[in-house]
Amino acid sequence: MAKTELPLVLLTHPLPAEWLASLDSLCRMEVGEAGRGGISNRLMRLLPEARGLICLLTDRIDEGVLAKASHLKVVSNYAAGLDNIDLPACTRRGIPVGHTPGILTAATADLTMALLLAAGRGLFPAASDARQGIWKTWEPAGWLGTDLEGACLGIVGLGHIGSAVARRAAGFGLRIIYINSEPVPELENTLNMHMVEFSQLLVESDFISLHVPLTPQTRHLFDRQAFRLMKKTAILVNTARGAIIVMDDLAEALQNGWIAGAALDVTDPEPLPPDHILYSLPNCLIVPHIGSATYGTRHRMAGLACRNLVAGLVGERLPVCANPEVYA
Ligand code: DGY
Repeated sequence: MAKTELPLVLLTHPLPAEWLASLDSLCRMEVGEAGRGGISNRLMRLLPEARGLICLLTDRIDEGVLAKASHLKVVSNYAAGLDNIDLPACTRRGIPVGHTPGILTAATADLTMALLLAAGRGLFPAASDARQGIWKTWEPAGWLGTDLEGACLGIVGLGHIGSAVARRAAGFGLRIIYINSEPVPELENTLNMHMVEFSQLLVESDFISLHVPLTPQTRHLFDRQAFRLMKKTAILVNTARGAIIVMDDLAEALQNGWIAGAALDVTDPEPLPPDHILYSLPNCLIVPHIGSATYGTRHRMAGLACRNLVAGLVGERLPVCANPEVYA
């Protein structure tokens, strides 16, 4: 088949060519611009012709986009999270939505532990002091952090990633409590952890780590009121979605010593404006949404995103479909 006869697929942001090799003979691809979130104007103009769409978590796929995409057969999200997509709107139009859960579990759990350790031990201020020559001698009471062994970790959401964090944290000797939609007996038995009420988790935890999707129920779960219940020594780690935390309330909590520190892989918005107060606080560590950013993980995410796309183009069931009701 001539290339021009192949179905048009829009990819909102460039990905390494070798990650997309499986699509070469199956579609024509138009690619958006690097280094910016959202669907470019050029791709917007191509939407009416598009049969497939590979998008990122930074692209809003809503009624406005879908209304233009009258021939779209599949949306393949290059992410596990789906909060960028109006799923009911896709379902109403019979468009299956693929995503990439599971694949990034280990990488995100690893980054969570890295952030927890970095914040708990004040790694970045200490490294910066060493570099600036503030380190003059071994200081008995200098650069003190928090012991992990015996400390309490509160996990908010015990899905794939929350469970992987629990397994890693148990190896560091942390005592674990959690909240979840339902108890997870196999982890309770093997890791000696237990489910608690949200308020108990806030009050008891030395570290709190967030692993819930962003939904109307979890949006702004961590607000002023929650921070006032947490220990003054507590550290909050977020590798889930930024809007689970009210950013201004977090800044207030860190400035007033209501909690001791925060380590964020995700913010609201992303990125925060460069002059945001959180960047100026020494007890707040922010990294640019890198939970899944390992070569292997991002490559495997692309593999699954391509398989979801191809299945949708040929009218087969997507390997990982977020709205299977389209097949009902
Ligand atoms: C996802 O896939 O939802 C992650 O946030 C990206 O790493």
